[in-house]
Amino acid sequence: MYQAPRGTKDILPQEQAYWRYVEAKASAICQLCGYERIDTPAFEDAGLFTRSVGQGTDIVDKEMYTFQDRGGGKMALTPEGTAPVCRAYIEHGLSNKPQPVRLYYLTSIFRYGRPQAGRYRQHYQFGLEAIGDADPALDAEVIDMARQFYLSLGLEGFSLQLNSIGCKICRPAYLDSLTSYYADRTSHLCPDCRRRLERNPLRLLDCKRPSCQEVAEATPRSIDHLCSGCERHWQRLKAYLALLDLPHEVNHRLVRGLDYYTRTVFEVQIGEGAQSALGGGGRYDDLIEELGGKPTPAIGFAAGMERIILNLKKQGVPVPALSQPEVFVAYAGDKAKEAAIKLMAGLRQAEMATIAALGDKSLKAQLRQANALGVGRVVIVGEEEAARDTVVLRDMASGQQREVPSRSLVAELKSVSL
Ligand code: HAM
Repeated sequence: MYQAPRGTKDILPQEQAYWRYVEAKASAICQLCGYERIDTPAFEDAGLFTRSVGQGTDIVDKEMYTFQDRGGGKMALTPEGTAPVCRAYIEHGLSNKPQPVRLYYLTSIFRYGRPQAGRYRQHYQFGLEAIGDADPALDAEVIDMARQFYLSLGLEGFSLQLNSIGCKICRPAYLDSLTSYYADRTSHLCPDCRRRLERNPLRLLDCKRPSCQEVAEATPRSIDHLCSGCERHWQRLKAYLALLDLPHEVNHRLVRGLDYYTRTVFEVQIGEGAQSALGGGGRYDDLIEELGGKPTPAIGFAAGMERIILNLKKQGVPVPALSQPEVFVAYAGDKAKEAAIKLMAGLRQAEMATIAALGDKSLKAQLRQANALGVGRVVIVGEEEAARDTVVLRDMASGQQREVPSRSLVAELKSVSL
């Protein structure tokens, strides 16, 4: 027996109401703030991610699904959504549009991690990117959108963690002080962190192992090493967040797991543990240039849909039911079946959602099915009705029924409840 690959899951019809709900809230906030939808391919040149997310990150080193296609190109299933959007921005000359260009996406993301609750090998993200302006007011806009999005879903108890990790001017000095801090404490570090110390010392700050967390408590803070430009940006951002009354906590150990970030980084967290990040983002002012475009500052954010749904369920947030067929067509006899098939086509043409059991079930079984599906109105055609060109309209809740001419069925269904 085949099963869905480990770390993936089927989204069955009974789950779809949650997904449509989250997607609708995502699209709504984007429409409200002038973000337009973009869709990029499910796979890209693997180099795009090695270049942007960065070698030495878990995503690139351990989690990318790479493959060679038949033309010999090295491809990767998208392990994150920002680099593809930047690639599209450069490729399609979006720098010629009024800046910032505001884009959003709902897409599948592939990461070969160890599957656990809230961590999948294929997950879905709602992401947004605002490309082409360095104004800290744009950071505040994106952070506020993230918050408004979770609030609009009805989620409670999440926090917003914020940090600035500087830029290529001030980061080297910070990394130096971080490295010398850790160099004296290597015996307390896990083997992964000892390796990271050489390649990517920022990542030591968010290691989840207790011994490493203890060492990380007293590390030098990036916000104490900001250059004047980054310091001004950080102060302006905090002023804008205060203006918006946007609650947040400065978290000196927040560094994020992707290398392209500069200045602002933030995460929305809920509860404890490794899967507590509901979403995250930040500025990436050098990325477009690194990918071959003109120097273009940008900021973005992405939210994991599965984790949102997990928390909606945990908090018992009700989501609207999806619409059901309005009409069920049932029949008894061959002639009646032909009449029913025509009726059903006519109802659908009139844009009334209509369903029938089809097959050879008894009338009783068909009515049971209509009931089980929760369809309120049933159109019944028997041989006699077919001969008279009429149907019986039955209201399932009251059990009331009456005969109407087939040609006035649509008008009847649209005008009156039985
Ligand atoms: P990220 O933090 O790697 O950022 O992913 C964003 C969110 O996706 C996470 O906060 C989490 O909710 C969810 N997520 C990540 N990995 C998994 C997984 N294996 N299973 C389930 N959910 C997961 C990015 O990807 C950046 N591109 C965000 C961004 C946009 N930065 C700037 N613009």
